[in-house]
Amino acid sequence: MAIVKEKVQQETIEQIEKVLTKHKGDSEALIEVLHQIQQLVGYLPHDLQKKIADQLEVAPGEVASVISFYAHFSDQPRGKFQVALCKGTACYVKGSVDIINKIEQKYDIKAGETTEDGLLSLDVVRCLGACGLSPVMTVNGKAHGMINPEKAINIIEKYLRNEM
Ligand code: FES
Repeated sequence: MAIVKEKVQQETIEQIEKVLTKHKGDSEALIEVLHQIQQLVGYLPHDLQKKIADQLEVAPGEVASVISFYAHFSDQPRGKFQVALCKGTACYVKGSVDIINKIEQKYDIKAGETTEDGLLSLDVVRCLGACGLSPVMTVNGKAHGMINPEKAINIIEKYLRNEM
């Protein structure tokens, strides 16, 4: 099993090197590179951010501010199931804060955090562009609309039981 894990890590390192080499000195490719590397690693650790800054020839501070500006990027390990709750106006009016509170309480995490078992992470995001379905939650990018605290927990539990 350890050998398989090592192989996966080696493959990931090679893929990261490939992305960085392809965009060497290309500061305009920053967002694209961050996106590709986050897909490979799952998040953007600080040592990797420095490497990206060096290769693309941008300031490390610029990499950090792009990551913090876009909710899509994270510098922390994310859960297997990434839950995002919309706190845009339409969702807010229809009670998204109660849903966020319920999830935080039930799984003992705050927005931006991941549970200790690495299964669940929670983010609060701006309008997801599906206001007609408010309040809206996404899990690994799949939208679930017209939810309430109980429905949200039921949906998350199904993901955790691998029923969705
Ligand atoms: S405000 Fe939540 S989807 Fe638009």
